Amino acid sequence: MDGLRAAVAGLGFMGFTHVEALRRLGVEVVGLLGSTPEKGQAAAQSLGIPHFYEDFGELVADPTVDVVHICTPNYLHYPMAKAALERGKHVICEKPLATSSRQSLELVQLAQKTGLVAAVNYNLRYYPLCLEARARVQAGEIGQVRFIHGGYLQDWLFFATDWNWRLDPALGGKWRAVADIGTHWLDMALWLTGLRVAAVIADFATFIPTRLKPRRSVDTFAGKVTAPEEAEEVQVQTEDYAAILLAFEGGARGVLTLSQISAGRKNHFWWELNGSQASLSWDQEHPNELWIGYRDRPNELLIKDPALMHPAVRPLAGYPGGHAEGYPDTFLQLYKAVYSYIADGDFSRPRPFPTFEDGHRQMVLCEAIWKSVRQKRWVEVRERLCEKDAHD
Ligand SMILES: NC(=O)c1ccc[n+]([C@@H]2O[C@H](COP(=O)([O-])OP(=O)(O)OC[C@H]3O[C@@H](n4cnc5c(N)ncnc54)[C@H](O)[C@@H]3O)[C@@H](O)[C@H]2O)c1
Repeated sequence: MDGLRAAVAGLGFMGFTHVEALRRLGVEVVGLLGSTPEKGQAAAQSLGIPHFYEDFGELVADPTVDVVHICTPNYLHYPMAKAALERGKHVICEKPLATSSRQSLELVQLAQKTGLVAAVNYNLRYYPLCLEARARVQAGEIGQVRFIHGGYLQDWLFFATDWNWRLDPALGGKWRAVADIGTHWLDMALWLTGLRVAAVIADFATFIPTRLKPRRSVDTFAGKVTAPEEAEEVQVQTEDYAAILLAFEGGARGVLTLSQISAGRKNHFWWELNGSQASLSWDQEHPNELWIGYRDRPNELLIKDPALMHPAVRPLAGYPGGHAEGYPDTFLQLYKAVYSYIADGDFSRPRPFPTFEDGHRQMVLCEAIWKSVRQKRWVEVRERLCEKDAHD
């Protein structure tokens, strides 16, 4: 990776996941930023990383850092990405890119102005069989895409005692399930099909209107294995559940179900594409199997094997057939794409990874979905919606 060096801000679930993938890739992580200097120091010591920062200003001023990874709660993505670009750093920002399309548009424009590489961590694209599915769609193997449907269901917020910063709109933003897990699915749908959404209509529900918030902070998913001793009752303002209908430009349709309160569903992220010649279906909890459906011959189940994949995506499968690849490998493949692009230095080439434009597109979609829920009607999606119509 030509000596490129990274720093990581936010040391929870994602911060450690980013560091692990970067190290497997051979990228040096020179420094870490935690929510306090003490947390940064403890993490740096335990991971054998030379430096921890006192604050984000110190991180972006570090001349040894080429790429800044932003793994903090959502409300910090915009100010941190902005500050990093302004200090001349390439950025890999966790999703969602921002908490409004006004912010995400500003980040897109800043990335364009600076010419820096600005990626959003839509890592789920990099499951080998999702890459294979996209290659098959592009090669015309399922014919014309008629509709895509699926969902993302979780159970980690099932109990009224389950708590995380995502439940606080000041930290997570005004959309919860839609921004947190919905944008993963929507990004996948747009990327797989190459389609753009023309209009949406959606329904939200909050089945657990009151929750017990622990007085101490709880890392993501940690609430499933620890019981808070002290808690306060809070009213929940964001959606536990969303159902979304999509009308794509050109006539294709989509149906998406999201939930963070579906008992037994851990990270049940799945999609099915129905085309005019064949269907494809994939489920994150069985990521090494791609189902291929036909009307006039037996269906097939492709077990991940680089030898059986399209040549263009074969290099993105890291292990031979029969050796399962999973969630951590998607981060590795995403960073391989970003860091080799930076190392190559020709930024006029198309970017083979999710960019700030993709992150902005998701913010525009979130806003259209939100507007549809409040106005109980179909809402047209305009990519530059934010300029006239954004709701901060
Ligand atoms: N791509 C994915 O698959 C995926 C999965 C989970 C989360 N995410 C995204 O990653 C981000 C982080 O989520 P998480 O699950 O890791 O949350 P987390 O709560 O586990 O970690 C966030 C960390 O940021 C720290 N933090 C808070 N304020 C900070 C500050 N000012 N400076 C530095 N650190 C600060 C917190 O103390 C915490 O340790 C979110 O935006 C989330 O949407 C992405």
